[in-house]
Amino acid sequence: MSAILQAHGLSDADVERIRQDFPILNERPHGHKLVFLDSAASSQKPIQVIDAMDDYYRRYHANIHRGVYHISELATEAYEEARASVARFIGTPCAAECIFVRNATEGLNLVAYSWGRTNIKAGDAILVTEMEHHSNLVPWQVLAQQTGATLRFVKVTEDGRLDLRDLDALLDGAKLFAFTAVSNTLGTINPVKELAARARAAGAISVVDACQAVPRMPVDVVDWGADFIAFSAHKMLGPTGIGILWGRKELLDAMPPFLTGGGMIGIVEMTHSTYADVPARFEAGTPAIAEAVGLAAAVRYLEAVGMDRIHQYEMYLAEYALKRLAEVPAVTVYGPSLEHRTGVISMTVGDIHAHDLASILDSEGVCVRAGHHCNQPLMEKLGVPATARASFYLYNTKAEVDALISAIEKAKRIFKIA
Ligand code: ALA
Repeated sequence: MSAILQAHGLSDADVERIRQDFPILNERPHGHKLVFLDSAASSQKPIQVIDAMDDYYRRYHANIHRGVYHISELATEAYEEARASVARFIGTPCAAECIFVRNATEGLNLVAYSWGRTNIKAGDAILVTEMEHHSNLVPWQVLAQQTGATLRFVKVTEDGRLDLRDLDALLDGAKLFAFTAVSNTLGTINPVKELAARARAAGAISVVDACQAVPRMPVDVVDWGADFIAFSAHKMLGPTGIGILWGRKELLDAMPPFLTGGGMIGIVEMTHSTYADVPARFEAGTPAIAEAVGLAAAVRYLEAVGMDRIHQYEMYLAEYALKRLAEVPAVTVYGPSLEHRTGVISMTVGDIHAHDLASILDSEGVCVRAGHHCNQPLMEKLGVPATARASFYLYNTKAEVDALISAIEKAKRIFKIA
């Protein structure tokens, strides 16, 4: 491998091959090439994922864990193989620790309802951070309101990192520490291993929102040492409608069900029931079978490219984008310097509202997310109502960063900003 390839993670030729796998990149919105810079919201899907789901529906769709006939057995095998693929991908030797949920939000709610309602009592403290996505904030707010627990917050520094100076005091007496591995707004990479270890030393469990981490960097749950992590398939080349809650087996085993009904029971009598073992206990009803098949195909795709290389390549694009953005007067970029961040870049341009900016970018085929990014308290802290956010993935190119810059220049001309 050449030095350049090592530095970039993926060569131009690699990325060109990868792009061929994504049919949507042939679209021409408003007559322009599609420049998709919103993978932090939801990534695009390679043909391998689309085909795997299509093949399932065409050849072996049937309900799982119920039928004794051939295609039901094939579907059951595919569903459980998907669980095993995810387990391998995040480094756990125990596939049963991977619970299929609808998305990360449902996974976090599962912990809040099942573990939280069992273990959190009035007067307990729950620690979260000021940079949490609403899905890793609101469930803890509701838990605190319903149990009489109190919420505490790790602050965010001026440069968009967690302020850990008071962490020991904040953890003192806390039962649970919920934090994101990577900020979906600032791109900040948080020190998960350190935070999980400090939570454990203080007697708190740690719950990690890994939505922006699992798609873009190697993640090893054993190395992280957290207690629960949640992420969604649709941000990592997989389909919508399925996500993963990983939890330590001994914690999951001791937890009551979250949703109840078919598939999660042991024996049902008229007035009471016993429950299935983990993971079935937490997978009530017919699950997202096609989506599990699609997720397994996404995992195979990411593994074949290599998560180290994907991460390196994203950092290469992020470095280039930050350099180019710094050259454009009136652009403000939020979040930390390159060594503490990923390729998720929030910005404002003069006093152009983020929605106006995103609309002008769209007229050039450039897709970015505009708004509060499900991070309203963080926006307040940054002192802006909204930002425009560009996020990069393995199918993006430097030329697309250039297209972003040209579209920003166009917006500045329209709004007469110097
Ligand atoms: N959580 C997604 C985002 O940050 C939707 O855009």
